[in-house]
Amino acid sequence: MNEINLGARKMSYLKEEKTTADLFKELRVLLGEEASYNQVLSSMCTLPPDIAREIASKYAAINLGDPGLFPQTVQLEKDVLDHLSKLVNAPVNWSGTITSGGSESNLIGCWVARNWSRKVKGINSGKIIFPKSAHVSFEKAADILNLNSDWVSLTEN
Ligand SMILES: Cc1ncc(COP(=O)(O)O)c(C=O)c1O
Repeated sequence: MNEINLGARKMSYLKEEKTTADLFKELRVLLGEEASYNQVLSSMCTLPPDIAREIASKYAAINLGDPGLFPQTVQLEKDVLDHLSKLVNAPVNWSGTITSGGSESNLIGCWVARNWSRKVKGINSGKIIFPKSAHVSFEKAADILNLNSDWVSLTEN
């Protein structure tokens, strides 16, 4: 990908008035050669089902962080988490949250682990150990949270 051109294009979105058709045409040219889902082997890269796209676009403006304005959505989150807690056989006093992506989930996971270790275990400068196969977002999370980290190699098994 040509970063200089991409930067210039980004600027052009901000400066010029474009029709929707022009915008989609430009995106087709810019992104047309990107890998498609059937070329990527990864559990996180699958084509979202049509129903999921429809729901996501219809309710995109809902903000789970505002239970006063969106109480039914908060209830939906609780219902989904309740269901998931049963699937993973969670302990009685489990808690959880739904995030908008993998990086945020990994960051929150490390944050909770760090704070729990401090409060419950009295560990104030612990170390978090990642397998080398862990996603790069864990490296960012460790840095943001000021956590010492070790990256360990995996055996073939
Ligand atoms: C295992 C794993 N963690 C985290 C991420 C980052 O997810 P996001 O792009 O939603 O922040 C990915 C993305 O592919 C991933 O595969």
